[in-house]
This record gives sequence, C-alpha cells and structure tokens, in this order.
Amino acid sequence: MIAIVGSGRVGANVAVQIVTKELDDLTLIDVAQNLPQGEALDLQHMAASYGIDLKIKGTNDFSELGRADLIIVAAGFGRKPGQTRLDLMKQNSGIIASVSKEIAKYAKSSMVLMITNPMDAMTYVAHRVTGFPTNRVFGMGGMLDSCRFKSLLAQELGVSSKSLGVMVIGEHGESMVPLPRFSSVSGVALEKFLSKKKMDEAVEMTRKIAAEVIALKGATIYGPSASVASMVDAIVNDRKSLMPASVYLNGEFGVSDIYIGVPAIIGRDGIERIVEVPLDEAERAIFLRGVTSLKDAISTLDL
Ligand code: LAC
Repeated sequence: MIAIVGSGRVGANVAVQIVTKELDDLTLIDVAQNLPQGEALDLQHMAASYGIDLKIKGTNDFSELGRADLIIVAAGFGRKPGQTRLDLMKQNSGIIASVSKEIAKYAKSSMVLMITNPMDAMTYVAHRVTGFPTNRVFGMGGMLDSCRFKSLLAQELGVSSKSLGVMVIGEHGESMVPLPRFSSVSGVALEKFLSKKKMDEAVEMTRKIAAEVIALKGATIYGPSASVASMVDAIVNDRKSLMPASVYLNGEFGVSDIYIGVPAIIGRDGIERIVEVPLDEAERAIFLRGVTSLKDAISTLDL
C-alpha cells in the first residue's frame, strides 16, 4: 500500500496519478479534518469511472501509516511567488520532523519519498529523524527538473519529448545542474541540434521555469505529480530505472553527509545504486555550490 502524507494540491494530484496508473492501494493522510476523507471519496469515484478497483482510503490517523510500504511526503507549505525553495526551510522542517517521527513510530520498514521543499534538505531531515537506511529515504526533484529541461528542448528542437533522454542533477533549487553532455535525442548528441548559446538558454530556463509557473498560477502541481509517479512506478514494478533522485551521498561525487540529486538506479529496494558520472569543471562548480547551500541550510537545524 502507498501512503501520501499531505492532501493538498500536490498530494492529491500524486494520488490521481497513482490511481490512474493502477500502481497500488492508497491511503491519504492529513491533519486537516475531512480533507483526506473527501479526496479519497472523490478518487474512488474517478477510479470507478475507469473500472479501477484499488482500495483508496482517507484518514487523519497517522497509525494507518503502519500498513504502508511506500510513504510519499507532500506535507508543508509551497513556495509563494518570489520565494526560493530554501526560503521554506524554517516553515517546513518542523512539519517534516514531526511527520518523520510518525513514520518511524508506525512504519519502520517503509520507504520514504520526499516532495516537500526544500526537498533535498527535507529528505535529509527525514533520514536523520527516522534513522532509516539511506536506500529507503530519497527525494523527488531531478526527475521534475529533467522533465522541464526535456519539455523546453522538445519545443526548441521540434522533436518528440519521447525521443529526448535528459539528465538534471544537483540541488533541486537555484544550483541545479542540467547535463546536456549526458542528454541526447535518441542517442544523437544535443550539440548536433543546438548551438551553445541556445543550450545555455535552455539550461537557465530550466532553473527558472518553476518560479514562472508559481507566479502565473500560484503553485506547480502536474509536473511534480507526474515525476513522483514515474519514480513510484519504478519502485512498484522493480524497473531498475536510471533516474535522477535526491540520494544520500557518502563519498560519491566527492561529497558526504548530504542529500542531493544524482543519477541512481531505482527499483523494488528504492535507491539500488548510485551512478557516478564524470562532471566537468563548470558542472562540478555548480554542483558544489548546491552542496554548500544545502549544508549551510542543514546546519541551521537542531537535528
Ligand atoms: C517544483 C517544486 C516541486 O520545482 O520544487 O515545482
């Protein structure tokens, strides 16, 4: 069973994705009275329209986490226009610490997939508070950044997004690292299609586009939800997919004791392998800038 903690717009849309892809039975949990229960009922009706017979439940009772194999955490506040993800550190770290305590209390053998921002730092909080092994605590960020990079490139190149394989690693934030060198159009290098100037523009736009969506509609919902669902699919169906994920590093990429986006093999056991790709000087500098800002943010917490 999959549990989603946080029945706000992102949590509810993750639920829509999980149900329509028939990934697993679902329990929505939130502290808001009636909200998860209402979302579950609505989802049951949607499921019935597709002839999908998953068990879908909504509750305010955190002990229901005990039946979960995978817990998706979408609880907390989202960015307002003009805010960075790290600006949410103070507001959300307390929420994530208390959710993590509930997870440790009721679901000792579960896996935790973090969405709440600043996602890398919140994943670190969840790992420290639950004490779970690092393969079972990870975050979604690079998949979303990669989808945005892919969307921008597909439009710029005039090719199907299905033909694009892209990779974005690093902080899910201002120092994310789109990797054109490890991206291609069905194996054909991007530089065959784009000038360096256009490539740099696409990279910069990938960093900024979430803030643009938030300025226009107040939140990002469908991109994050679909990205989470692709990771859940890899876990539930043991796909051994190579995906960017926020993973605990213990020496990989030359850094330790941090959660940050790197390529990883994802399957039934969560993070099954970290894939170290050689970064050039410029890529490494941005990656390390993200490491520094995340370590600075974590250092302000009383963990
Ligand atoms: C975004 C949030 C999920 O990038 O960080 O839309």
